[in-house]
Amino acid sequence: MTHRRSRTYRTSWTTGGLRVDEKVAAAVREGLAARPKWLPPWLFYDEAGSRLFEAITQLPEYYLTRTERGILAGHAAEMVAKAAGDARLRLVELGAGSADKTRLLLAAAIERQQTVTYEPLDVSVTALEAARKRIEGEIEGVTVLPRRMDYTQGLGLDSAAPGERRLVLYIGSSIGNFVPGAAGALLEGVRRGLAPGDGLLLGVDLVKDEASLLAAYNDAAGVTAAFNLNLLARLNGELEGDFDLEKFEHRAIFNREQSRVEMHLVSTCAQRVWLEALGMTALFNEGETIHTENSYKYAPGAAEKILTAAGFTPAGSWTDEQERFAVCLGLVE
Ligand code: AVI
Repeated sequence: MTHRRSRTYRTSWTTGGLRVDEKVAAAVREGLAARPKWLPPWLFYDEAGSRLFEAITQLPEYYLTRTERGILAGHAAEMVAKAAGDARLRLVELGAGSADKTRLLLAAAIERQQTVTYEPLDVSVTALEAARKRIEGEIEGVTVLPRRMDYTQGLGLDSAAPGERRLVLYIGSSIGNFVPGAAGALLEGVRRGLAPGDGLLLGVDLVKDEASLLAAYNDAAGVTAAFNLNLLARLNGELEGDFDLEKFEHRAIFNREQSRVEMHLVSTCAQRVWLEALGMTALFNEGETIHTENSYKYAPGAAEKILTAAGFTPAGSWTDEQERFAVCLGLVE
């Protein structure tokens, strides 16, 4: 594995024995000084947040994961065949995916070509190592080559071997957490890192009735609320904050105009929060919100449009019976 040192500015500092990550500090400084306040959704995924997200994917209301899994279970062989043509496929995943859905595509590739190389891309070495152990331990015939990389900045991959094509997996509706401009730029960056014949498999959540959307982001057991509030707990731990989690509430709304579910944290009273590591006070009015996430819901055909705009040629689209979720293939010509 290569570790690129691409940044020359400091990435962390220490205060009172606490290591502060510059990226986290900068995001919080900017977001809590803004009106309306906001925080980026990547802040959800510390250790506790990643565990809570795994729990969300098992919830009865969170149809996304099991619906996409069903689509992959039914069509993985066809997807792999379309992407491979007469070549061998090498699978690349944006994010160190949970073995569960990726396994279906790896199994289809192995069925076709006996062995397969799988390259998970992630900024987290821990997540990559866990993915490597999981996949190598569970699926025979897979060689895992973890790549530590921030794929939102483009792909820095070596060329595939002669006779091999890359199929990049960006599943799980992860693209939905980017506003349209950033989503387009991300896909374009991916396309620039690929060669003719390579492809991208994109999983998107589709627009549907508001009640189903809201239930998925405001489950009865309160796991999504805990996931949202954990962000404040993270800031308490990493930035020596004094957020009182009892004084904030989880809220999910469907913004139909923007076609997205939004998550917010609502201050239930007027309050002042101190972040020692930043030397910063954040003042909240009663009812004031921090916007923590957008989850875009695509209209039928919209995924093909962004694939095309990013320079891919749409080559297939699969959905479930109720058209809740779609998986789309784009090829580089
Ligand atoms: C990771 N991402 C696709 C999830 C979503 O549905 O937007 C994150 C999530 N937020 C609340 N529940 C799940």
